[in-house]
This record gives sequence, C-alpha cells and structure tokens, in this order.
Amino acid sequence: MAGALVRKAGSQSASGGARAWAAAFQQQESLLLGDHGDLGFEKSGGVRYSSSLAVSGSHRPVKRGTGGRSSVSGVVATVFGATGFLGRYVVQQLARMGSQVMVPYRGVDEEWRHLKLMGDLGQIVPMKYDAKDEDSIKAVIANSNVIVNCIGREYETRNFSFEDVNYGISNRISKLAKEHGGILKYVQMSCLAAAPHSSSRLLRSKHAAEEAVLQNFPEATILRTAPMVGVEDRLLNRWAIQAKKLPVVPIPGDGLSKLQPVLVIDVAAAVIAAIRDEGFSMGKTFELGGPDVFTVNELVRKSI
Ligand SMILES: NC(=O)c1ccc[n+]([C@@H]2O[C@H](COP(=O)([O-])OP(=O)(O)OC[C@H]3O[C@@H](n4cnc5c(N)ncnc54)[C@H](OP(=O)(O)O)[C@@H]3O)[C@@H](O)[C@H]2O)c1
Repeated sequence: MAGALVRKAGSQSASGGARAWAAAFQQQESLLLGDHGDLGFEKSGGVRYSSSLAVSGSHRPVKRGTGGRSSVSGVVATVFGATGFLGRYVVQQLARMGSQVMVPYRGVDEEWRHLKLMGDLGQIVPMKYDAKDEDSIKAVIANSNVIVNCIGREYETRNFSFEDVNYGISNRISKLAKEHGGILKYVQMSCLAAAPHSSSRLLRSKHAAEEAVLQNFPEATILRTAPMVGVEDRLLNRWAIQAKKLPVVPIPGDGLSKLQPVLVIDVAAAVIAAIRDEGFSMGKTFELGGPDVFTVNELVRKSI
C-alpha cells in the first residue's frame, strides 16, 4: 500500500510529503507513457502518446495558463465537506492552480465566506444544498468533472447517525456521480482504521462507505487518513486548551495507544495529486500517515 507521507508534522510550509507523493505519481506516469510525462504529443516527430488507462467521462480538462490561480486548470470540482477542516485546504489547493470549485454547504454564509478569497473572482461558487436530497446533489455536481467527498462526522446528531453521514451520503453522491457520466476523478476520504468488523460503529460506517463508493464508481480513489493535525485540528488543540483551563489533562485509556498523525496540508496535497495524475490512482486505496508514530502520552506532552 503506497502512501506514507514523509513530512514532519508541525510545520505548515512547503510540503515535502506531497512532493514525494507527486514524484511517485510522476514516476508511475512516465512508466506508462515512456519518457513523455505530460500526456500529448512527442516534442518532435508528431507521435502521439496516451495512457492505456481508461478515463471515465465524456471530456478531458482543457488547460490554459502557467498554472497559478489565474490559469485554467480545466478542473471543475465539487468539494463536499468543503466547510470542514480538510475541505478548506483542498479548496485552497484547487483554487491556487486555477480550478473552479463548487462549495456545497448546508448552514449559514459564514461557513463558506473564508473560502471565497482562496480563488480568483467567480472561481469559488457556494451552493446551498441538502445532502439527503438527490436533486440537490445533482445540481451541485451538474457542471463538475471532479468530485471530492470530505464529508464525515465523528459524533452522531438527532438528524444524522454515523451510517447516515458516513455511508448514506457517500453512497448517494457516488451513485449520482456515475449517472452524471462526466466525472473524471472521484476522491473519497476515509479513516485509516476503517474495517468491517471494527469495534467502532464510526469506522464500520466509513468502511461501508468505501465499499459503496467503489461499487457505484469503481474508478474512485479512496484516501484513508490517520488523525490529521494542523492549525485548526481537533486533536492537539483540544489537549492544549484543556491544559490551559484544567489542572490535569484527561487522557483516553492508558495513553499508550499509538497514533501516526499526518499534516492536513499533506493530505490535501495527496487529494490534488490523485486529481492531477493520469489515472494511476483510479480504483485504488491509499493509506496516509505522517512520518512519526507517537503514543497518546507523547502527543499530549508535545501539545501542552
Ligand atoms: N480529522 C481527522 O483527523 C480525520 C481522520 C481520519 C479521517 N478523516 C476523514 O476525513 C474527512 C474530512 O475530515 P474533517 O476533519 O475535515 O471533517 P470535519 O472538519 O468534521 O468536516 C466535515 C464536513 O462534513 C460536513 N458534514 C458533516 N455532517 C454532514 C451532514 N449530515 N450533511 C452534510 N454535510 C455534513 C460538514 O459540514 P458542516 O460544516 O455543515 O457541518 C463539514 O463540511 C472525513 O471524511 C473524515 O471522516 C478525518
């Protein structure tokens, strides 16, 4: 299984892990394409090279410009869960390369306002939707050629059980994505320990979501991530806040469980790499962890 990112957690600058990831994809592409990494025409001689991998959908993205935020990457992406922790970094990295990004949201305007600034004028398009309503999902994916699903929740609410959020919505979106016919890339976010017989209902529902997505949309890429860390994370920040407010920090279990936290920016870079590659990641599952393994005790000590 590919995918151990090689970046040290804690720093938010240029992404070494993402570079390693992109290099791996590039290497794979050049194996498929000979020495002509960029799909298209050989520099001299006019021989056309193309990937042997089938790309679903009716059209290929048209690229224009030098690759910055004012270019046209050809990607028109709907990012479900864009208002969440990972979603904002995915939107930022998509917008930075000149993509148009649909931002389905269900709450108030404040939830997407910060995302608008990440792209050129008109490139970030907030759209109110209801994840339980198929017509509403069809509307937010209608003009897209890429779907990223970052929806997930680690607690249940009165309206949404684990199964509703993690399995039901993923099942619905992936089914409609296949019916759409023009979705070139589909990236589904999942959890590292997702398994059918896990003792956690959350992880069982994440695994059921993976299976449903691959059944509905076999070319989808599944990214299973370890706990993500970053400026707004809910792991280290929670302990840091507790350490400020309480005389002791409550630690789950004996504190000896092991975690391999991964930087959220690197996970977003992996999403972008899966979108940009020429088909290598399609239909595959990758596990994303950081470079170091810590016990919970060690992580708590580091965060306070
Ligand atoms: N954070 C981690 O450490 C971690 C670790 C492993 C895997 N993952 C997975 O990675 C993905 C992204 O995680 P994250 O930390 O960015 O999650 P997050 O911050 O909790 O954001 C979740 C997103 O899903 C949306 N959402 C939740 N319930 C919904 C519902 N019933 N209907 C419609 N939208 C709903 C939220 O929308 P609202 O803003 O409207 O609530 C939000 O945009 C998830 O699939 C998660 O399971 C995360």
